[in-house]
Amino acid sequence: MELQITATDPGHPTTLLDLPWDVPLAAWPERHLVALPRGISRHVVRFARAGHDVFAVKEVGEGAAVREYPLLRALARLAVPAVDPVAVVPGRADAHGEPLEPVLITRQLKGSLPYRSMFETTMRPGTIQRLLDALAVLLVRLHLTGFAWGDCSLSNTLFRRDAGAYAAYLVDAETGQLQPRLTDGQRHYDLDVAQVNIVGELMDLEAGGSLHPAVDPVPFGRELIDRYGALWHELTRTSVYPRDKRHYIDRRIRRLNDLGFDVAEMQIQRSPDGDHVTFLPKVVDAGHHQRQLLRLTGLDAEENQARSLLNDLETWMASQEDFVPGDASPDDEAPGARPEVLAHRWVRDVFRPAVRAVPAELREGLDTAQIYHELLEHRWYLSERAQRDVGMAAAADDYIATVLAGRPDGTDVP
Ligand SMILES: Nc1ncnc2c1ncn2[C@@H]1O[C@H](COP(=O)(O)OP(=O)(O)O)[C@@H](O)[C@H]1O
Ligand SMILES: [Mg+2]
Repeated sequence: MELQITATDPGHPTTLLDLPWDVPLAAWPERHLVALPRGISRHVVRFARAGHDVFAVKEVGEGAAVREYPLLRALARLAVPAVDPVAVVPGRADAHGEPLEPVLITRQLKGSLPYRSMFETTMRPGTIQRLLDALAVLLVRLHLTGFAWGDCSLSNTLFRRDAGAYAAYLVDAETGQLQPRLTDGQRHYDLDVAQVNIVGELMDLEAGGSLHPAVDPVPFGRELIDRYGALWHELTRTSVYPRDKRHYIDRRIRRLNDLGFDVAEMQIQRSPDGDHVTFLPKVVDAGHHQRQLLRLTGLDAEENQARSLLNDLETWMASQEDFVPGDASPDDEAPGARPEVLAHRWVRDVFRPAVRAVPAELREGLDTAQIYHELLEHRWYLSERAQRDVGMAAAADDYIATVLAGRPDGTDVP
C-alpha cells in the first residue's frame, strides 16, 4: 500500500512527509524527536518535530487509528478540551516492504504535563485535589456532550495550569463512544472505571514513594466521584420555584455561569394551578468566561484565567472616563466607548506591557494569560502587605525577582 497521510489541516502534510515513516516509531533517529515528558501508554508514543510544530505520534493498530481520529475531531467540534488530531498515516511499510503499524498524530498540547511529571516533586494534598477537580469538570463536560470515555484515568489526561487551578484535557479517546445522550448506567460505568484507575495510579505513586504521606488513595478516588456528582447535579437538576420568585431562575443561571457553564436552552413550565414554575436548564457549553474574554479582547485563555483577567478588565474599564456603566452598548451619538473598544485599549496599555515586563526567558513554558494572572495575584499580595496599591510595575519587578527566578519549571500551583 502507498503511504498516505490523511490530515485535517492542508498545511501539515508537506512538513509531515519529512518524517521517517518507513522506520518503526521506536527506532526513529534522535534528530526528529523532542524530549518531553510522557505518560504511561500501551502503544509507542513519541514527540516529533516537523516544521515549526511538535506533534505526538502514536503507533496503533489499523482499527484503532481509524476509530480514534474521527472521535477526536468530533470532540474538537464540540469544543471539549482534548488533544487536537492532526492526521492518520495508514499503509506504512519499511524499506523491505514489510508493513508497519499506522500512526495517529496529534498536536503536542503546549504547557501540559502528564501527572507523573507533576508528582516528581511531591505534591501537596490540596494540589492533588485541584487535579481531581479538573478531571471531574472534564468528565462532566464529556458526559454532557454524550461522550462515554471508557478509560478515564490520570494517564489518559493532560493537565495545564489554569490560574490557581488546573484544566484537564482528554488525551486518549481510543475506548470512547459518542452518542446523542448517555444513560445514567453509562455515566456510572465511566465513573467506576475512573475510580478504579485513579486509585490504582495513586497506589503506584505511593509504592514509588512519590505520594504525600497525608494522601490515602482510596478516599481520594472516591472524592472524584463526589465532586463529579455535585457538579452534575447542579448543572442538570430541575428546580421548582413559587411563581412570584421567578428571579430565582436568573439567580440559578448566574450560579451556573459562575461555575463556568452557559445555558443553551431552558425549559420553563408553569404548574397547572399556576403557582409554581419548573425550570430545567440545558447546560452545554463550559467556558463561559473564556468565550467572553475571547469576544472582548481576542485573548484565548483557560476558564479560570479568563475569569481573573475579566475581573481586572472590568475594574479597569470602570476607571476610564469614557466608560458607560451597564450592558447597553451606546449608539454612535451617545458619549462613551463600546466595551470592545475599551477592552482593546486594556490589552494594549495594560495587559501587554505587564506581560512584556517579564523577560522572555522567564516566560518560557508559561502562557501570557497565566503570567498576567500571577502578576495580579502578586500585586494583590504585596498591596495587602503594604496596605496600599503598589501598582503593576512594582508588582512585576518583585514577581520576577522573588517568584519566577526561583521556580525551576514550576508545576505546583502555590
Ligand atoms: N497531543 C499530545 N500532547 C502531549 N502529550 C501527549 C499527546 N498525545 C499523547 N501524549 C502523551 O503520551 C501518553 C500516551 O498517550 P495515549 O494516547 O494515552 O497512548 P495509549 O493509547 O498507548 O495509552 C499520554 O499520557 C501523554 O503523556
Ligand atoms: Mg492511554
